[in-house]
Amino acid sequence: MKHKIAIVTGSGSGIGRATALLLAKKKFTVIVSDINEDGMMETDDIIRSAGGTAHVHMCDVSEKDQVADLFKTTKSTHGSIDAVVNNAGVGGVFAFTHQYEDDLYDKVIAVNQTGVWYCMKQALLIMKEQRDGGTIVNVSSLAGIGAAPMMSAYAASKHAVIGLTKTAAAEYGKFNIRVNAVCPTVIDTPMGQSLLSTNEELATRMKYSIPMKRFGESEEVAEVIAWLSSKSSSFVNGQEIRVDGGQKA
Ligand SMILES: NC(=O)c1ccc[n+]([C@@H]2O[C@H](COP(=O)([O-])OP(=O)(O)OC[C@H]3O[C@@H](n4cnc5c(N)ncnc54)[C@H](O)[C@@H]3O)[C@@H](O)[C@H]2O)c1
Repeated sequence: MKHKIAIVTGSGSGIGRATALLLAKKKFTVIVSDINEDGMMETDDIIRSAGGTAHVHMCDVSEKDQVADLFKTTKSTHGSIDAVVNNAGVGGVFAFTHQYEDDLYDKVIAVNQTGVWYCMKQALLIMKEQRDGGTIVNVSSLAGIGAAPMMSAYAASKHAVIGLTKTAAAEYGKFNIRVNAVCPTVIDTPMGQSLLSTNEELATRMKYSIPMKRFGESEEVAEVIAWLSSKSSSFVNGQEIRVDGGQKA
């Protein structure tokens, strides 16, 4: 049986890497994509050592032409694109909105929001011509469904991702394309750690505001993404699934 093909952006680290590993374990051929070449190669190595199939493709998701190349090359080389995980993202900084630098705001929007937009457009264009459609999972955040004090750019970008997710789900369900989002709370990844390390007191408060009294692991988010990318979730479409230990319950 032909392997299904999955693209995971930002899979050189954290949640993206855990997702790429899990999808490979579930017999997807995984296109590992990132701007960090070392991280990308490491993910590729781990997948191959575990007996999985992976290929690397460098791509900055905020660059439209690079995104088009990623999708076109994948489609022409492998014949289909069955699952896309739009995971690449940046955190920005902790700052009050009136002090947030415009350049940094633009950068966060370019990667987290416009990057998802470029990838979704390419994915939809290809999937709508496929008999079996496909799945798209966008990695948003709890900051995409509520306030995220001191992280205005991040919150704006992640709210936009939810809007794009729901709209595409409504438009493309008839093509058998499902589009969902995951909304994790703080996850123990390099991004999670670097944000928390800037303010220890805030980190402690955040941890204890989670009913399970801990932060999440990348693998726990990957499990939800893999489920949303599988037939087991065949009637789940347009959802924002919280992976937050009950924080927003
Ligand atoms: N860690 C958390 O606490 C947390 C919580 C909620 C949501 N998220 C989201 O999860 C996703 C993954 O984050 P993570 O925690 O694994 O972070 P991470 O920093 O460990 O990994 C992010 C990856 O994205 C890549 N990347 C950054 N800019 C890119 C670009 N322009 N093009 C392609 N790749 C790029 C990085 O090189 C890195 O490998 C992000 O969208 C993030 O916003 C993270």
